[in-house]
Amino acid sequence: MSEKKERALKEAKKVMDFILKDELTVEEKNTIVKESIENFNRNINPGWLKYRKSVSTNAAFVEWSDSQETFVDVFGTEFIDLLGGFGIYTSGHRNPEILKYVQAQLGRYALHSQELVDPLRGYLAKLLEMITPGDLQYAFFTNGGAEAVEMALKLARIATGGKWFISTIGAFHGKSMGAISMGGKGAYREDYLPLIQQVQHVKYGDAEAVRTAIKNLQHVGEKVAAVIVEPVQGEAGVIIPPEGYLKKLREICDETNVALIFDEIQTGMGRTGTMWRCEVEDVTPDILAYGKAFGGGIMPITGIIARPHMWVEKLVENPWILGSPTFGGNPLACSAAIANIGYMLENDIPRQAKEKGEYFLSKLKMLQEKHPKLLTDVRGVGLLIALEFPKSEMGWSVTKGLFARNVMTAGTLVNAKTIRIEPPAIIKYETIDIVIEKLDAALTDTEKEFNL
Ligand SMILES: Cc1ncc(COP(=O)(O)O)c(C=O)c1O
Repeated sequence: MSEKKERALKEAKKVMDFILKDELTVEEKNTIVKESIENFNRNINPGWLKYRKSVSTNAAFVEWSDSQETFVDVFGTEFIDLLGGFGIYTSGHRNPEILKYVQAQLGRYALHSQELVDPLRGYLAKLLEMITPGDLQYAFFTNGGAEAVEMALKLARIATGGKWFISTIGAFHGKSMGAISMGGKGAYREDYLPLIQQVQHVKYGDAEAVRTAIKNLQHVGEKVAAVIVEPVQGEAGVIIPPEGYLKKLREICDETNVALIFDEIQTGMGRTGTMWRCEVEDVTPDILAYGKAFGGGIMPITGIIARPHMWVEKLVENPWILGSPTFGGNPLACSAAIANIGYMLENDIPRQAKEKGEYFLSKLKMLQEKHPKLLTDVRGVGLLIALEFPKSEMGWSVTKGLFARNVMTAGTLVNAKTIRIEPPAIIKYETIDIVIEKLDAALTDTEKEFNL
């Protein structure tokens, strides 16, 4: 073995040992912190730790374990999780009611042969049909949100024969080439141009702008494949469209023969107070994309489900034309998603998100009255909530103040002036009260810092 490989083996053994240990010594904890910072700077990106402004300037907090509504750093400091991993922890961190099924599956087989029939994939697809609105029926599983969006875009093209997409300003659908082509913020697109050329971005919340864009394209002989929207824009800073927007989009797409894609990767699986946000307007898209919380906060699994007319003959003849992700819908991920669906239904997680969201929002509005110059807006649905500040620096200062008080949150990707409140839906009411107290104190500190 070469000397380099010998060193790699020694390094791997050291970390394998850390993973197996129930208790680390103080020396080992210090080593993990020191080496993690070195590893991130040398092997991930020298800018990474500095960029995470909300967390800390010294980046000395190394995540080591989690449970339900909290996570714990390597020294045992517990943090209340208000960020929910950008929305993945709706059912909590390592919820034991989900974890036990994943562990049982892991004891049997983890990934699939690719050739035999893997039963959990079939059961999960069946369950999805049962928990999604209307006649959504055929599911395709992927590993990340952007990948699910890619499948949605490709399916729309193959099913309709159209080339164009209508997306919205401020939209966030992921950062792969197709998904970012739909994205509504220049900073994430500029360096990669040209992207998919056949995209028009219109104002979010304005259904007539969608109609005009489609009509204009059709007038000059172009064919539109799909309209893609988030039912509530998440990364744009929780932008809630006017009532009736989704219904109007459905009507327009029906009239013009264009597919409607709802990206419910963030809004779905109970986050906004119903299993899917589109249920609020009783609208069924042609393609629904899901992800984030879908794997129960334990396994990454995302995907799409589509209405039967989208699954055209060509795809039935060769299902691999759409995609064939090696890990998509693997048994371990499916076991997590199935157990998560069971848990969410049994414990009515959407209702919990709705009621706790209303409670949280009412308390936050009181804080807004107390700190009107700093907290310029508080908005949200269910447990997808945003706090808006006059300047992004003020939002960062508040998140730092919260972090210093052992409460974790962060900003949104597209709107620097907002920070998000997106905790697990299993959060206790007492925890919400504690958070409000700490937020009050953090807001007061920021007011002083900025002389407000
Ligand atoms: C609505 C929406 N779509 C897609 C994505 C991309 O998901 P991923 O980061 O898993 O690729 C996100 C992530 O924030 C999202 O909020």
